[in-house]
Amino acid sequence: MRIDILTILPGLLEGPFSESILKRAQERGLLELNIHNIRDYSTNKHKKVDATQYGGGAGMVMTIQPIADLIDKLQSEREYDEIIFMTPDGEVLDQEMSNDISLKGNIIILCGHYKGIDERIREHYITREISIGSFVLTGGELAACVVVDSVVRLIPGVINDETSALTDSFQDNLLSPPVYTKPSDYNGMKVPDVLLSGNFAKIDKWREQKAIERTKKRRPDLLGND
Ligand code: ADE
Repeated sequence: MRIDILTILPGLLEGPFSESILKRAQERGLLELNIHNIRDYSTNKHKKVDATQYGGGAGMVMTIQPIADLIDKLQSEREYDEIIFMTPDGEVLDQEMSNDISLKGNIIILCGHYKGIDERIREHYITREISIGSFVLTGGELAACVVVDSVVRLIPGVINDETSALTDSFQDNLLSPPVYTKPSDYNGMKVPDVLLSGNFAKIDKWREQKAIERTKKRRPDLLGND
């Protein structure tokens, strides 16, 4: 999978992408991640990427020229399956959306800033708009990191334990059951006996029951009865 991220703050993305799973995915050749600084494409002599909005109003708006030129250049080099814009008024990210995006070949993710971007970018270039929740971030960069992380861990071969991503919370519309590790008794705080029993049919049943209990209590909306 190839992901091109368009940003005015590349430094915000470089850290998260050079650690852990995202780093490993790139080293294994399963992910090609390219960060592009929108400012480098500005034809303005001061490399400006924003301007006041027509019609008046507070806040600066990202201008069309550098973003359009950058997307045009990328599209002249290869086909993209999706051009995503990170925005609080987009469709709210969920596991199904991450699964869907993880099946794509090449995608562009555009990070917004200021008051927004010139609407013509959204009309003519963007194929999908994603929000990571009903709150406003300073810019789309952290939201883009969330999308990339949730998508990349689903690419086969990225996570070592093949079954791990499939048993994530939300994959069956259920939250994950509790997990425990050594020691089995920590100052009197004990691991449930069933997990130490060696009876795997019983353990599976216990896990399923705990997953259902937890989902009912914390996220009844996932079971369709909120
Ligand atoms: N940019 C600013 N806030 C955002 C959000 N909640 N989701 C995605 N992009 C954003």
